[in-house]
Amino acid sequence: MKIALGVTGGISAYKAAELVREFQQRGLDVQVILTAHGQEFIRPLTFAALTGQKVITGMFGSGPQEANVESAIEHIAVAQTIDLLVIAPATANCLGKLANGVADDFLTTLYLATTAPVVVAPAMNVNMWEHPATRENVERLRRRGVHIVEPEAGYLACGMTGPGRLAAVEAIVEKVLDVLGIRQDLKNEVVLVTAGPTREEIDPVRYISNRSSGKMGYAIAEASYRRGARTVLVSGPTALRPPDGVVHIPVVSGAEMRDAVLERLPEATVVVKAAAVADYRPVKRSAQKIRSKAKELTLTLEPTEDILAEVGRRKGDRIVVGFAAETPAEIEDLLTSARTKLESKCLDLIVANDVSQEGNGFDSDSNTVLLLGRNGLQRQLPRLKKMDVANEILNEVASLRAHGRS
Ligand SMILES: Cc1cc2nc3c(=O)[nH]c(=O)nc-3n(C[C@H](O)[C@H](O)[C@H](O)COP(=O)(O)O)c2cc1C
Repeated sequence: MKIALGVTGGISAYKAAELVREFQQRGLDVQVILTAHGQEFIRPLTFAALTGQKVITGMFGSGPQEANVESAIEHIAVAQTIDLLVIAPATANCLGKLANGVADDFLTTLYLATTAPVVVAPAMNVNMWEHPATRENVERLRRRGVHIVEPEAGYLACGMTGPGRLAAVEAIVEKVLDVLGIRQDLKNEVVLVTAGPTREEIDPVRYISNRSSGKMGYAIAEASYRRGARTVLVSGPTALRPPDGVVHIPVVSGAEMRDAVLERLPEATVVVKAAAVADYRPVKRSAQKIRSKAKELTLTLEPTEDILAEVGRRKGDRIVVGFAAETPAEIEDLLTSARTKLESKCLDLIVANDVSQEGNGFDSDSNTVLLLGRNGLQRQLPRLKKMDVANEILNEVASLRAHGRS
């Protein structure tokens, strides 16, 4: 989704930089519009660097030689492509112009030209906020359906105390997500996700591992954070960048993953175990590189820790989701082994997939999964992008919570 962020000439304009980051971390594309007076408080370059996009600073370019059709109708183009306009901070001056339909710069013209919902977070000196003119303007905007994020009371930059301080960044973000209809249904949860493969060392240069890319677990962590959960991602070695906003704990072996998971478990309310932990490790790790001699080499393997079973034993009120990646001869085999795992590991939900199918499972960007729940749920999903699969899994988690499985 794309939003426009209008920044006006108030002392708290610097906080808009943090807002941009928060919006981006929730997957929103942000076009910043800075008023002429806003530029007295913060430079366009700050926003250009954060968003990687041109910042709109005026209606008319810098001179006649710059005039072209593209920039001349930019306010209409932006007005038609945004899903929401948020103005933070909004000065008393800006509120007055919005309330009265004055359109003397890009931001106020955009306000008139767009049909997208508008969120306004005012910030000003307490007397300005309490002035009858401002009160009338705010009420008029509210009646028109503009969402107002009320300023906070407190010590103001001008030295006075009272209402007028820009609302907390989280409150503004929450309102924007709410108006956009982006679910924040996991905001009371702490979601612990494991992802990627583990590596079990044979010697200093060799290891046993598997083909897991980590994409499924990373998608779940990203989706979970976007839906408001505090999210911890314990990940084996992958080539992926951890999603913004997520606490990332890198591990290598199954034993390290177990320790990290058990350390973080007490705070977690939901556990999603998407990692492909190696099932076996060498009984003995050679301290030196094993020399190649042209004869057979036998490695004795022992099972690694069963992290899922350990989490199951300490389950408490948590919702626990496991994965079963199989290469079944028949679909019935997949069902049977997934059901067995669901029961034996005390899971609430299991995500079963046939990784032998083309375009499925490891290292793929899509997945075709079957969701099985302890509550009798059985849902075969079509082939979906991993981010969509992640959201389907989290829908089931949210629904388990809503229906009292807490
Ligand atoms: C140091 C300083 C701080 C200001 N802070 C605010 C403020 O927090 N809120 C406000 O409404 N106006 C504030 N103003 C006044 C606005 O900058 C002024 O009304 C300006 O015309 C707003 O322009 P704009 O709404 O087009 O950005 C401040 C002015 C100065 C010089």
